[in-house]
Amino acid sequence: MIQSFNQHLQRQVSENVEAFKEEMCFVFALKEKIGALADALKLFEENKVNLVHIESRLSKDDKGKYEFYVDCKAKDKDDLLNTIEKLKDKAAYLQIFDKSTTDGTVEESVPWFPTRIKELDQFANRILSYGAELDSDHPGFTDPVYRARRKQFADIAFNYKHGQTIPHVNYTEEETSTWGIVFRELTKLYPTHACEEFNNIFTLLQQNCGYREDNIPQLEDVSRFLKDSTGFTLRPVAGLLSSRDFLAGLAFRVFHSTQYIRHSSCPKYTPEPDICHELLGHVPLFADPDFADFSQEIGLASLGAPDDYIKKLATCYWFTVEFGLCRQKGKLKAYGAGLLSSFGELEYCLTDQPELKPFDPEKTADQEYPITKFQPIYFVADSFKSAKDLMSAYALKIPRPFSIRYNPYTQSVETINNKQQLVHMVRDLKNEISVLEDALKKMEDVKLR
Ligand SMILES: [Fe+2]
Repeated sequence: MIQSFNQHLQRQVSENVEAFKEEMCFVFALKEKIGALADALKLFEENKVNLVHIESRLSKDDKGKYEFYVDCKAKDKDDLLNTIEKLKDKAAYLQIFDKSTTDGTVEESVPWFPTRIKELDQFANRILSYGAELDSDHPGFTDPVYRARRKQFADIAFNYKHGQTIPHVNYTEEETSTWGIVFRELTKLYPTHACEEFNNIFTLLQQNCGYREDNIPQLEDVSRFLKDSTGFTLRPVAGLLSSRDFLAGLAFRVFHSTQYIRHSSCPKYTPEPDICHELLGHVPLFADPDFADFSQEIGLASLGAPDDYIKKLATCYWFTVEFGLCRQKGKLKAYGAGLLSSFGELEYCLTDQPELKPFDPEKTADQEYPITKFQPIYFVADSFKSAKDLMSAYALKIPRPFSIRYNPYTQSVETINNKQQLVHMVRDLKNEISVLEDALKKMEDVKLR
């Protein structure tokens, strides 16, 4: 739990030092001054406080600035108190991070996670790769026009803020032609290879969002369509996010989508996600209520999860949202975006070449997989609903010192850790049950007439 450093600092510090004895961790940001960090670190040495761990990270409150997380130990609790008091004078803010339990054991610290949808804005400048920079083996690496275009798309994503309209892009003839090639080939396969939900929604996207061979749909139009369907929205992203950041978006029903398109020299291949992958592969199923629930379930499970569980959840995401298969009316169908946006793998995945296993998060989470060739193993889900139930059960096993609840009214995540919240939840549940009883009664009345 993070405690604010406010006017009651002195009392809080005393209580915490008493409780923690000689160990403490906290986050602070420094006032802007040359040598400020060196001065701050000297305080620890001067007060005989041992820095066990220190890391810098982008401030979640003050964009573009850094804050420091420190984990420290001292032989004497007064040394800790003195250090904090002196650091207070140099700090723009300081928060004590409660690591200890009352019995003296030390809990693992919980990684920071967004609790409000607006906080996803912080992910924009945390791109791991791609964005405006291309690797030397990228098909567009030696094309200055393509690279300049990628810079335009990256700027849109970097400058985008939650709640804004996603900027309209006038795609060039060349870009639209590349889209057309991909669109034409994939739509030949969808009727026989894609799951039923995908095909039903794809028709709606053609009717409502300009899904056509000669038109690349606008992210804003598609995002509005999804919002009306399931509450999912798109936000532009410049390149690849870390698994932790990407999954956190799903917790808020937000899908980070690229807006650029692959290089025209290789319409059948892209080394990275592009708008063909997002709009053709991912978007349709985010308009399906059960699939949307399943996707959000993975996202909620990731919030505050330890690193090893983030890897497991990202693997579950890989084998479902990206490369999932399901069985419908006795036939195998594709629902993963990596399949539905690749005509080569879409055909291959339904042949008898790959190995098939039932989707089971416990086992799926530990399955190794290649990223540069067709998958040798696919996991098959009975339905999105059953996959969601399995993910929910799996999420309960993730070691976190709190429960999580998504509040759709405020688009925020609540950590359930006090009695008052439980009272509110019971009240909400009672209201839901009253509506359910009323609906059942009215249905019975209609039957009796
Ligand atoms: Fe994807």
